[in-house]
Amino acid sequence: MAGKNEPASIAADADAVDFMPTRGSDPDKNGDAVDRVLAHATLEEKVGMMSGHGFFAALGEDDRVWGARPYRAGGGIDRLGIPPLLFTDGPRGVTRVGSTCFPCTMARGATFDADLEHRIGQAMGKEARAQGCSFSGAVCINLLRHPAWGRAQETYGEDPWHLGVMGAAMGTGIQAHNVIATVKHFALNSMENARFKVDVRADERSLHEVYLPHFKHCLDAGIASVMTAYNKVNGEYCGQNPFLLTQILREEWGFDGFVHSDWVRGVYKVDGAAAGLDIENPEPQIFGEKLVEAVRSGAIEESVVDRACRRILATQFRFAARPDPLPGYPSDLIANEEHRALALEAAEKCAVLLENDGTLPLSRTNIRRLAVLGRLAAIENTGDNGSSRVRPPYVVTPLAGLRDFLGIDAVVHGDEDDIEAAAATARSADAVLVVVGYTAKEEGEYIIGDIALGADRKPGDPAPRPSISDVPIGGDRVSLDLPPVQIDLIHAAKASGKPVIVVIVAGSAVMVERWREGVGAILMSFYAGMEGGTALARLLFGEVSPSGKLPFTVARDTDDYPFFDRDADTIDYGYWHGYSKFDRERLTPRYAFGDGLSYTRFSYHGLTARRGTDAIEVEVSVRNDGKWPADAVVQCYVCAPGVDAERPIKLLRAFDRVHLRPSQSAQVQFSVPLDSLRWRDDIAHRWRLERGTYRFGVGGSSNELVYTSLEV
Ligand code: BGC
Repeated sequence: MAGKNEPASIAADADAVDFMPTRGSDPDKNGDAVDRVLAHATLEEKVGMMSGHGFFAALGEDDRVWGARPYRAGGGIDRLGIPPLLFTDGPRGVTRVGSTCFPCTMARGATFDADLEHRIGQAMGKEARAQGCSFSGAVCINLLRHPAWGRAQETYGEDPWHLGVMGAAMGTGIQAHNVIATVKHFALNSMENARFKVDVRADERSLHEVYLPHFKHCLDAGIASVMTAYNKVNGEYCGQNPFLLTQILREEWGFDGFVHSDWVRGVYKVDGAAAGLDIENPEPQIFGEKLVEAVRSGAIEESVVDRACRRILATQFRFAARPDPLPGYPSDLIANEEHRALALEAAEKCAVLLENDGTLPLSRTNIRRLAVLGRLAAIENTGDNGSSRVRPPYVVTPLAGLRDFLGIDAVVHGDEDDIEAAAATARSADAVLVVVGYTAKEEGEYIIGDIALGADRKPGDPAPRPSISDVPIGGDRVSLDLPPVQIDLIHAAKASGKPVIVVIVAGSAVMVERWREGVGAILMSFYAGMEGGTALARLLFGEVSPSGKLPFTVARDTDDYPFFDRDADTIDYGYWHGYSKFDRERLTPRYAFGDGLSYTRFSYHGLTARRGTDAIEVEVSVRNDGKWPADAVVQCYVCAPGVDAERPIKLLRAFDRVHLRPSQSAQVQFSVPLDSLRWRDDIAHRWRLERGTYRFGVGGSSNELVYTSLEV
């Protein structure tokens, strides 16, 4: 039967046509199928594909619990049997109730393990499918320009190359199970409180060399969608920015997937469609009827609508036609044993050992009684409570992990609420572990009261609706230091005279200057996911050696970081940040990018670099010179001649992770693409490869490298 406003002939025709490709069908026929859909769809239906629908109603029905169901995020013509894109967020797991909660993205950045990230992506793809989702927002790759950024935990770190490799590994993993991945937030979204208003200014070199290349890396790897950022770039909101969405994304990079907005405040004018935004999410607030009217009045050409629909349909059809690697996606895939093991593997590989005077590893024979201090030791703390929140079936806290490992009576707990009592607890033990850092209150997505994505209840729980007066949570950090009471707790632990280990739980750099003296070991665990406590016990007691590396620079002085103002209306993102800024200004960091100790030592031998056709082939032998089996993270940096234009002193261009037994060696090979040596000429608006002598530095940290030179 024809719908209310549909000509009977179209509806009848539509009944006869099978529009959706089936799994394993010939992908060459997808183009025809797209044409047929466009020929049958009305203008309203096409514009309908260009928005999400039903989000606000769904949130209301689900007591405002974010992630209670997949959200319709564009696409879909019900009459023609075209399904919508069904969205779930990430990035620390599928944000539906009960999913596996992995360590946060920044923690996974510290693994420098693209293979692991790809496997985690596959697990998320499977869990998304098992929960009815076809579209994932798990790939977040905004560059960490300043560690105060509230959502630092959702990204991989400060280095564009590393961001690109890790983001691509995650996105292609998700897509392996035919869930469309989107890469977010395009672009320069690395301030939280001001995210809806700030105008981020950046010049051409900064854009192309620093803030955008990781997006290109992910799209070149096949990620099929892009989510725009809330902020403005060079004067225009990203969701309606023709320079970003058309000139760079389409004309320069040749991207042919679809682009959608961030949620609710992602686009402000209907012309966003002409600028290159294909979908407004999560509701048709700006597109919808206004876009239909704009087309009818001639203000926007219908071809703009057709172009967006083509991009959406072509992507959907491509994914729909591909065979699935699994015969089915039953619900018992969700947080299954394999995925929980993966969460544990990631938690073990991400922890970064920042200091160790020999206190670690602890031994079971020497530690009869362990004092575990800190409120954060005893709470489930997997990260912020914003859109990336995952509600796993359980979380192993640090305290629970240590009690499981050592036995309940061997672990005593105290916290900063009663420092005297905590000090006495410390004195009664053989060693003291102090767990410090942050929670969703101090850093995270900035959630104002009326949104309440982080509400602590499940669908159906009788909790009251939050009101607009609810206290906001998260946002950019106001300080890079630990809260004073936690510093007091560390001092109290030190005063006990027992070996002290400090574990830092946070999404990015934390200053250590005010308390590090006299501490035996410092371990950065990040928000370590549902298996974090289990991993922590295994790391501390040497069942596995720490092997994570810092994906950002930890300063001695906060003034060494670039300027940051969390309330800024306008901010200039210059070219220099992170280790390139520290190198250029000869600032000594407390811990350099790529730093991280191990229970063993590695040495590097026989470094060579030779010119291949499109890449420089770098090779080195790594040897485990210590007594513990452990993973080495091998990093390869490039130093350009920097005569034609000033370049950073060094830039990461490859990394790998190898497991080595004591005395074992391994050959590690890197292929550094010649294209990755280029710089952006902002006068000619193109990339240039400088000729001359390049140096290639390889090692286990950005500040401890062996070098070789090559004429390029
Ligand atoms: C966040 C996005 C997220 C979206 C949907 C927004 O508030 O900025 O990262 O994907 O919500 O959850």
